[in-house]
Amino acid sequence: MDAQPQLLRVIRLGHPALREVAEPVPEAWFGSGRLHNLAEDLKHTMIKEEGVGLAAPQVAEGFRLFAYWVPGEDGPEVSPTVIVNPEIKPVGEEIEEGWEGCLSIPGLRGVVPRYRRIKLKGRDIEGDVVSLTANGFHARVVQHEFDHLDGIVFLDRMTSMESLAFEPEWERYILSETAEEA
Ligand code: NI
Repeated sequence: MDAQPQLLRVIRLGHPALREVAEPVPEAWFGSGRLHNLAEDLKHTMIKEEGVGLAAPQVAEGFRLFAYWVPGEDGPEVSPTVIVNPEIKPVGEEIEEGWEGCLSIPGLRGVVPRYRRIKLKGRDIEGDVVSLTANGFHARVVQHEFDHLDGIVFLDRMTSMESLAFEPEWERYILSETAEEA
């Protein structure tokens, strides 16, 4: 019988586990209850904490997997998914700037350049190969989560700290401005 998913504690910047390079998920874990439970807990915690992604290192599990989802606002919706042992490759050279936040860096937003289009290859929790091309926000979320597996956070990817903003100020001064321009 499946256990109820657990709400995991999300570690914050300053916790050393956030800066470590995660280990590949061992072959023997595919199809196991251990991997199934970790995947379910990651998805559950991501949704409860109102994030669009959560990587295992953010719950101090040093393995290469992450959960994410994409609300279908400016592209196709992706329901909560877990990708194990991912590899990513840019498709083309196009870079796009966009706003990011992180459950491990609560309350802050900043502009981060990312590849506009990427190819993602990995496995699902049963070990089956997953391969897809992601664009725009979908590609951004995957690159952000993938970085967590290498101990990298979005602040490291910012080319300038000038855009860095607290959420309430971001909502008040930046969101409202872009909404007026749209
Ligand atoms: Ni993050």
